Amino acid sequence: MRLLKLAVAAVGLLVNVCVAAPSVSVVSNTVLDSKGIFFVSYDGVVNVNSFQLSGVLTYKNFQYAGWYTSTRTLVLGRRTLPSGAWSTLQLPHNLSTSDSHNVVSLGVSPADGKIHVAFDCHSTQMFYSSSEANLATSGKSWVASRFAGITTTLGSLNIGTVVTYPQFVITPTNLLQFVFRSGVSGNGATQLAEYSAGAWKTVGSWASATGTYTAPSGATSTLRNLYIHGFTYHGDRAHVTGTWREQNGAVSCSSAGLTNHDTVYFYSDDLGRTWFNSAGTKIGTSGTTPIGVNTAGIIVDSLNADHGLMNQESQTVDSTGLIHAVISYVPGRFTQCVTNYETDRPAFARPFHVYRNANGTFTKVEIPFAIQSVGRSQIVMDAKDNVYVVLPFVKVVTASKASGWTDWTMMYDGTATGLDAFGEVTLDRARIPSGVMSVLYQQTSTGTTPSPLRLIDFTLNG
Ligand SMILES: *[C@@H]1O[C@H](CO)[C@@H](O)[C@H](O)[C@H]1NC(C)=O
Ligand SMILES: *[C@@H]1O[C@H](CO)[C@@H](O)[C@H](O)[C@H]1NC(C)=O
Repeated sequence: MRLLKLAVAAVGLLVNVCVAAPSVSVVSNTVLDSKGIFFVSYDGVVNVNSFQLSGVLTYKNFQYAGWYTSTRTLVLGRRTLPSGAWSTLQLPHNLSTSDSHNVVSLGVSPADGKIHVAFDCHSTQMFYSSSEANLATSGKSWVASRFAGITTTLGSLNIGTVVTYPQFVITPTNLLQFVFRSGVSGNGATQLAEYSAGAWKTVGSWASATGTYTAPSGATSTLRNLYIHGFTYHGDRAHVTGTWREQNGAVSCSSAGLTNHDTVYFYSDDLGRTWFNSAGTKIGTSGTTPIGVNTAGIIVDSLNADHGLMNQESQTVDSTGLIHAVISYVPGRFTQCVTNYETDRPAFARPFHVYRNANGTFTKVEIPFAIQSVGRSQIVMDAKDNVYVVLPFVKVVTASKASGWTDWTMMYDGTATGLDAFGEVTLDRARIPSGVMSVLYQQTSTGTTPSPLRLIDFTLNG
C-alpha cells in the first residue's frame, strides 16, 4: 500500500514536471503614442481590434504599427527588431468618423517590398496607400513622402464603396492577398483580392449572404454575412473558421442578443479559389459558387443565436496543419437566452478552444477563465504546439500540447500588474515564429480623453 502511494506520488511528480503549461515573460512595454485617440464605439476602441489582423506587423527585421493619434491623424510606426526605438510618420488622412470599426490594417508584398495600408471604413469606401518599392527591406528613412497618394480604390482595383474589415495575408507563394467584406452586417459577402506582378486583381467572393437559416424557434432569416476568425496559411492550405451573422433578429431569443450562430470551418489548397469542408468534399468556388449558410458539412460546432456568440475572434494552425480557434459565448449553464450581450458577456461569457483532430472531427474545450468583457481573445501557438490565449485586459492563459491542451493556467494577468488595458487586444502574428508575442493594447480612459497606446512583448517559454 505504502509502496503504491509512493509510486503514485512519483508519477504525479513526473506528470507535473512534464506537463506544466508554458509560461510567458515580459520583455518590454513600449509606448507607441502617449495620446492615442480614445472613444468607445461598438464596445471597442479604433486602435485595437481583433479584426485588424495586422494592426501591428513584423516583416523581416522591422515591426510596423498603424493607429490614429488624438488629432485623428493616421500614424504609421516602425522599429528595428527586437528593441529599436519607434519612428513615426503621419499620412495625410484624418479618421472620418468616431467608429471603432474604422481600423488601420497593414500588409507587405514580398515580391516588391511595398508596405500596404488600408483604413477608415465601415460599410463605406475604404482608404488605401502603399509605399515605394523595397521600403519594407531597405530600412530607408521613415517619412510620409515614401507613400503614394491615398486612394479609395485598392491600387487600380475598384472594390466598391461598401467595404469593411480590410485584412492582408501573405500566401505560401509569396503573393499578398486582401480579404474584406462587401455589403453590410447581416447582408454581406466575404471577398478576396490578390496582389501579383505589382497590381491588385479580384479573385471573387467566397462566402455569400444567400440561403435560409431556420432557428430552433422556427424563425427564419434569408440574409447574413460570414464573420471570419482568420484566413491562415499553413503549407499550401488556407484555413478559415468563422460564424454566421443573420439579418433577421427574430432568429435570436432576444432583440438585444447577437444573431451570430455556429462555428464553421473550410479550407482551400489553391490560394482561395476552391474550397473544401473538413471531410474533404468540395463545397465552393470563389467568384462563381461561394459558400453559403446551407453549404453541407461546414458546421464544426453547432450553437444557436441565443448565446451571445462573438464574431471575429482568432485562429491559428499547429505544426501538423490542424486549425485551432478561440471562440466565446455564454454557456447554457448560465442562461439559455442572452437578453443583452453587452451585459451578459462580461458577466458570463467563457472562451473555448476549438480544434480539428487528424481524423477531421473537432474538439471543443472550455478554457476555465471568464472573459469579463464584451471583447475578443487571441490564440497563438509556439513551435511545440503549446497554446497561448490572450484574453481581454492582456490576461495570458496557456496550455501545453503534452497535456492535450487541458492544463490551462493563467500565466500573466494584465489587470493584476496594472496595465490598465481597455479590453480587447490585437497581436503581431508574424512575429510569433521568433518566439516573441507582441500585444497591442490601449490604456483605458473616459469620454474622448486620449490615452497611451502601448505594445507589450512577451517571450513564449514553451
Ligand atoms: C487633419 O486635421 C487637422 C486638424 O486637426 C488639419 O490641420 C489637417 O489639415 C487635417 N488633415 C487632412 C488630411 O485633412
Ligand atoms: C477522432 O479523433 C478524436 C481525437 O483523437 C477522437 O476523440 C474521436 O473519437 C475520433 N473520431 C472518430 C469518428 O474516429
